[in-house]
Amino acid sequence: MNKELILVTGGTGYIGSHTVVELQNAGYDVVIVDNLYNSNIEVLDGIEQITGKRPHFEEADCADPIAMRHLFEKYQGISGIINFAASKAVGESMQRPIMYYRNNLNTLMNLLDLMEEYSVKGIVFSSSCTVYGEPDVNPVTEESPIKKATSPYGNTKQICEEIITDVINAGASFKSVILRYFNPIGAHPSAEIGELPNGVPQNLIPYLTQTAIGIRKELSVFGDDYDTPDGSCIRDFINVVDLAKAHVIAIRRMLEDKSESKIEIFNLGTGIGLSVKELIASFERATGVKVPHKIVGRRAGDIEKVWANPSHANNVLGWKAEISIDDTMRSAWAWQCRLREKGIM
Ligand code: NAD
Ligand code: WQD
Repeated sequence: MNKELILVTGGTGYIGSHTVVELQNAGYDVVIVDNLYNSNIEVLDGIEQITGKRPHFEEADCADPIAMRHLFEKYQGISGIINFAASKAVGESMQRPIMYYRNNLNTLMNLLDLMEEYSVKGIVFSSSCTVYGEPDVNPVTEESPIKKATSPYGNTKQICEEIITDVINAGASFKSVILRYFNPIGAHPSAEIGELPNGVPQNLIPYLTQTAIGIRKELSVFGDDYDTPDGSCIRDFINVVDLAKAHVIAIRRMLEDKSESKIEIFNLGTGIGLSVKELIASFERATGVKVPHKIVGRRAGDIEKVWANPSHANNVLGWKAEISIDDTMRSAWAWQCRLREKGIM
């Protein structure tokens, strides 16, 4: 049984909490650090319910170097880090760019500094398909051009990738795996953990499930005049549990010295592009619940179509997205219903 200790920053958040479940199921010990800016402490109950084990938890700001040093002193022997902690709302980043640069860049730089000192072997970094912007060709591979970021949030992901590259090229003792997620959706099948958006959701699935349950009157489909078969935008929607499992493979790879190079980059998507209209139809088919919706104008800044070529992750990591879109929709709906049962939403 593997009992290496993994530090998961942002581990009470959406993708982080699902990853902690998979790490614990794989036999790792986990310490979560989160400042609870965009998550809450009850997530630990959900993780414990699923895995039978409560991860260590420290409430701290990863952008604070002193707090992070205390953490590394307290938990000696951290083998690897998965860095989810970041501010992630594209629109908010346009309003508060300094907050985004400060939080996302300082968090990463603090970790990289401490990794060297405390002999941590590797870091998995959460990047995003946003680095590809509007691709000239779909599906996108890891070699597809990086386009100029259209938001401070997107720019933080590009800069963070560059910081990791520069630090490793300068001779750092550790390795990194950069994972570029496409559109993570769904929830754990137990409905014990899931996505908990603050206020009015900006992303499609939480808005859709909140509409289906009656919190929102109707879902606006942003544009049906795109150059796509049904006119709505196309994305690569990846189940969050599938995504979480890739992190376990990525961290294990570094800890077992199996990486092919000191920095590896992988697209994490299904390889299938689905339109917004197809996604709504899939939700209705899978759950039997209707989603009132109407077509409205395009949302500023939206990409027309983007989906992944995940062959590199399939072949090198031996990872593949497995959960069907209908199961994913059922999990998102079960989670929304659980939030209602608990009186949260
Ligand atoms: P999330 O907001 O649910 O989780 C992030 C967690 O980090 C939250 O719990 C938040 O409280 C915490 N956090 C933020 N700043 C912190 C700090 N300075 N110190 C300590 N904790 C801090 O977001 P998520 O959807 O789980 O995303 C996780 C990562 O994946 C982020 O880096 C995000 O940019 C990236 N990502 C997300 C998506 C997506 O669509 N959800 C897509 C691509 C990449
Ligand atoms: C998906 C599609 C909308 C809401 C964002 C970030 C990206 C990455 C993933 C972090 C689009 C349409 C949405 C609604 C709609 N995050 N939509 N009605 O924009 O692809 O990506 O999350 O790295 O950086 O930009 O995700 O869920 O907001 O939108 O019609 O109420 O759904 O227009 O076509 P997006 P999304």
